[in-house]
Formats: sequence, structure tokens, C-alpha cells
Amino acid sequence: MRRLVVKKNLITLGIESSCDETGIGIYSSNDGLISHKLFSQVKLHAEYGGVVPELASRDHIQKTVPLIKEALKESSVKLNELTGVAYTAGPGLSGALLVGSSIAQSLAWGLGIPALGVHHMEGHLLAPLLEEKKPEFPFVALLVSGGHTLLVDVPRIGEYKILGESLDDAVGEGFDKTAKILGLGYPGGPALANLAKKGDKDRFTFPRPMTDRPGLDFSFSGLKTFARNTFFDFPHEKANIAKAFEVAATETLSIKCNRALKHTGYKCLVVSGGVSANLSLRESLNKMCEENDVSVFYPALNFCTDNGAMIALAGHYRFLAGQSNQNYEISIKPRWSLEELQPL
Ligand code: KG4
Ligand code: ZN
Repeated sequence: MRRLVVKKNLITLGIESSCDETGIGIYSSNDGLISHKLFSQVKLHAEYGGVVPELASRDHIQKTVPLIKEALKESSVKLNELTGVAYTAGPGLSGALLVGSSIAQSLAWGLGIPALGVHHMEGHLLAPLLEEKKPEFPFVALLVSGGHTLLVDVPRIGEYKILGESLDDAVGEGFDKTAKILGLGYPGGPALANLAKKGDKDRFTFPRPMTDRPGLDFSFSGLKTFARNTFFDFPHEKANIAKAFEVAATETLSIKCNRALKHTGYKCLVVSGGVSANLSLRESLNKMCEENDVSVFYPALNFCTDNGAMIALAGHYRFLAGQSNQNYEISIKPRWSLEELQPL
């Protein structure tokens, strides 16, 4: 006689608080992403020209619980229907991570459900799986954020081999610092991309760092210095400098992605993290992938930068595989390599 197995609907709450965004997501195994809420602290930090960690932590304390309540209301999920709480355990700012961890562990303990610390970059890496058209494993992932530039070999969820990374500034940091040099304020990436639209791509040619030698590592700090020196000589050509920086950075990423795809033999590329919202990068990668018969996947624009949906999703896969921290310890990992993760 065949037994009917009724699978329980897992409903995971995700909490993101690693930097300057408080993000909440609710992911259900039956219905996918059913709610997400985001509060960006951009205005809070703008006058300081960058993220002030203590202010970030205090603001996460203010916003996390109200956003959880809003997300529950929007999805019509009752608190006692949640089956797990996932939070960003690292990498990120210690104080900010502690807020998410404390709230997640306390809530899970109070509800008697498991909690789990998720790797922020695994969240980014899996974010394209929130879309209807999903990438298939194995794939190469290019993770481009404010703190990381990583090329990763991904045979399956949870198994990550870093093929290349930035030896100095992350590409998002390069965008932010160059924007600061040009007086564009914080956050710099979107502002620089916006100004670059008015620039002439043929006016200046910046180098494509580390593309003239084998390997998959990156270096972006020299590009920022190149921008500073050009700005010194041509102070009235901000848009052209922004364009030259953007073209050089995005083409460098594209060249290295092509190399990583050839190295692995994979025909699928996933691109995620804040800089994957950059349209010039998408254009360059789309062209390279088309020429090489490779499928490329990005998150929706609102899920490129930090958000709670990707943390709920990453937590969901791990809960599904039976992983959790059973002791409700408030634990964070401000420095944490993707390669240390437990495979599913
Ligand atoms: O993933 P994310 O939100 O936070 C981190 O985990 O770091 O990425 C933020 C980074 C910032 O450096 C920001 O300037 C950059 O992503 N960024 C962009 C764009 N949107 C965000 N860079 C270039 N073009 C954009 N449109
Ligand atoms: Zn991020």
C-alpha cells in the first residue's frame, strides 16, 4: 500500500541587518516569496559620506520588529505559523549583525522553532532563484557588492569554491570611492552610473586591471587612482571620467567572467550583489554571454542590493535540508568565507 506523505509547508522569516539596510522576507515552500520589506538607512549616513556603524546598529534596533510585523500582516501569516527564522550572521558590521541575530534567536526561542545564521553572500548568490526563470546548476557566480568581488564555482547549493577575488578594493567600493572623488556623495555607485550616462565612452580610456595576465583575481584600487589623477587634470569632465571608470570596471568583470566560464566549462553565469544593478555591467555581460552561448541570470533590480528576501530564501534551503542552530546562541561571524559553509 502506498502511503500518502503530506509535506509540511515551511514558512521562513528572513532578517538582513549586515550593513545599512534592514530587510525582512517571508518565504513559504508552497507559495515562494510572500512578503518582503526594506528600510534603507541611506539618508541617515549621507551627511557622513559613508556608513557609521554605531548609527547603523541603533537604526536596525528601531526598524527590525516593526518591519517584521508589517511583513507578517502583508502575507497574512500569523507569528505562530512561522516554522523557522533565518538571519544574516555575517560577513558584515558586528553591531549591526548582533541586532539581527538577537532578534532572530529570541523570536525563534519564544516560538519554539529553529533559528539559523545565514551567510550574506550566499543570500546574494541565491537571489536569482527568487525569479521565475531560474539558473540551473552548475554555474559560475559573479558576486559584486560593496565589500566583495568574487568569482565562485557553484556545483550545487552550499558548495562554493572561490575561483577569484579582489586583492584590494571591491568593485562596489571602487564605484563608491570614485564617486566620492567626483563629489557625487553617498551612496556612490548609482550616482556614478547615473552621471556616466552623460559621458563620452571614447574620451578617456582607463586600464582593465589584471586582464593582461592569467588568473581570476581582481584589483580595483588602481582604477580609482586613475580616476583621481584624470579628474585633477580635467576637473570639468566629471561625466566622461565616470563613463571611463564604469566601462573599464564592467569590461574587466566581463573578461574575468568569460575566463571563469572557459576554466570551468560551465554554460551558465549568475550575477548578483549591489553592482549587478548596474545596467552597463549587464549590457557587457549579456553581450559576452551571447557570443559564447552562455545563459546569464540576475536578480530583479530590487533584489540586487541588500534585502531580506534573499536571506529568507537561503534560510529556507538550509531548513529544508534539516540545518539549524539548536541552542539559540546569539552568534555572528563578521568575517566568514563562503568556502567554510556546510554543503546541503
Ligand atoms: O550588495 P550591496 O547592497 O551591499 C553589500 O553587501 O555591500 O552592494 C552595495 C554596493 C555599493 O558599493 C553600491 O555603490 C553598489 O553596490 N551599487 C552600484 C549600483 N547600485 C548599487 N554600483 C554601480 N551601479 C549601480 N547601479
Ligand atoms: Zn550585500
